[in-house]
Amino acid sequence: MVTLTVNGHTHTLDVEAEMPLLWVLRDEIGLTGTKYGCGIAQCGACTVHVNGEAVRSCSLPVGGLEGAVVTTIEGLSPDGNHPVQVAWVAGDVPQCGYCQSGQIMAAAAFLKQTPRPTDADIDAGIGNICRCGTYPRLRAAIHHAADLLRT
Ligand code: FES
Ligand code: FES
Repeated sequence: MVTLTVNGHTHTLDVEAEMPLLWVLRDEIGLTGTKYGCGIAQCGACTVHVNGEAVRSCSLPVGGLEGAVVTTIEGLSPDGNHPVQVAWVAGDVPQCGYCQSGQIMAAAAFLKQTPRPTDADIDAGIGNICRCGTYPRLRAAIHHAADLLRT
C-alpha cells in the first residue's frame, strides 16, 4: 500500500512497491496526460512534479513515495492558465504534442529554480527530448513564461 496526494486528491493504492509512478498515474489513477516515451529516464515525456521537483516518473518506484505530493499536467493549473501553459499556447509550441506535457512540467519546475534563464541555462537545465524538433519554440516559450512569471 502507498498513499499519495495527486493533484490535491489523496489516493491509497494497493500496488507493488516496484511499480513506477508513471504506471500508477496512468493505469491506477487514470491520469493519461503524462506520457510513456523511453521508459529509462532519458526522454522526459513522463515528467511530473514530486514534492515540487521535476522527476521522470517512468523510473521512480512508487514504494519510495509514501506521503508524497505529486502534480501532473492535469493539476498544474485549474484552467490551463499556468504561465508556462499560456506561453505554450501563445507560441504554438507543439507539433505532434507527445513530449509536450513533460516539457511543460519540466519548464514549470525549472523556472522556479531559474527565473531569469539564458538560452544556455535552458539547454543545460531541461534535457527533455522532442522528436519533432520543437526546440526553438520551446526555448522561446520558456523565455516568455519567465517574463509572465515575473510580472
Ligand atoms: S518515458 Fe520516462 S524519461 Fe522517457
Ligand atoms: S512535439 Fe512531437 S515529440 Fe515533441
